[in-house]
Amino acid sequence: MKKLTIILAHQHYAKSTANKTIIECLKKKYPDVKVRYIADLYPDFMIDVDMEQQNLIESDVILLQFPIYWYNMPAILKRWFDLVLSYGFAYGEGGDKLKGKTLIVSATAGGREESYTPIGSMHFRLRPFINNIESSTYYCQMNFAKPILGYGNIYSPEFDASPDVIVERATNQANRLIAALDELLK
Ligand SMILES: Cc1cc2nc3c(=O)[nH]c(=O)nc-3n(C[C@H](O)[C@H](O)[C@H](O)COP(=O)(O)O)c2cc1C
Repeated sequence: MKKLTIILAHQHYAKSTANKTIIECLKKKYPDVKVRYIADLYPDFMIDVDMEQQNLIESDVILLQFPIYWYNMPAILKRWFDLVLSYGFAYGEGGDKLKGKTLIVSATAGGREESYTPIGSMHFRLRPFINNIESSTYYCQMNFAKPILGYGNIYSPEFDASPDVIVERATNQANRLIAALDELLK
């Protein structure tokens, strides 16, 4: 079986509901999976590039799990991209260490799906906000799997979600993710 690694980028994981639910479901399904809590590992943003690169070399499928922050990935994950996917490692001369590996995104959004439309309050669909990651993946000669997206993960009357509802939505997202991962890990 192929090897999965999870890069979890959540700035306040202790307070997480959605991402924590997804990670717990994944750990149950794949007990040996390695989860790298990059916000906790690198609170000062001083990423151990060698360690992160070694982890990627040893992995076949790389899952990026994160909440949407300002229509984007959290800053720690952008920093991870900037430092870990370096010239000579991920691209450029000799930069073929990620070639043929598969990257999959699982992102949780606070906004509801109906707000992520041209006539909704978010103005755009959520999927195009992931295009930067898709392009980066191709630049590194990797395969890009269909992103798994979840909506309505904020506990607020405006967003109509209680903690129980968020757990239910996140569990549904985890199940969709596991179905995709089972295929990718064959
Ligand atoms: C700094 C910050 C920015 C956020 N920006 C967005 C956003 O642009 N769009 C959105 O739908 N939700 C946004 N949210 C809501 C988070 O995506 C949501 O709280 C998270 O997915 C819930 O997952 P969790 O329970 O694991 O924290 C933002 C939250 C924070 C803290």
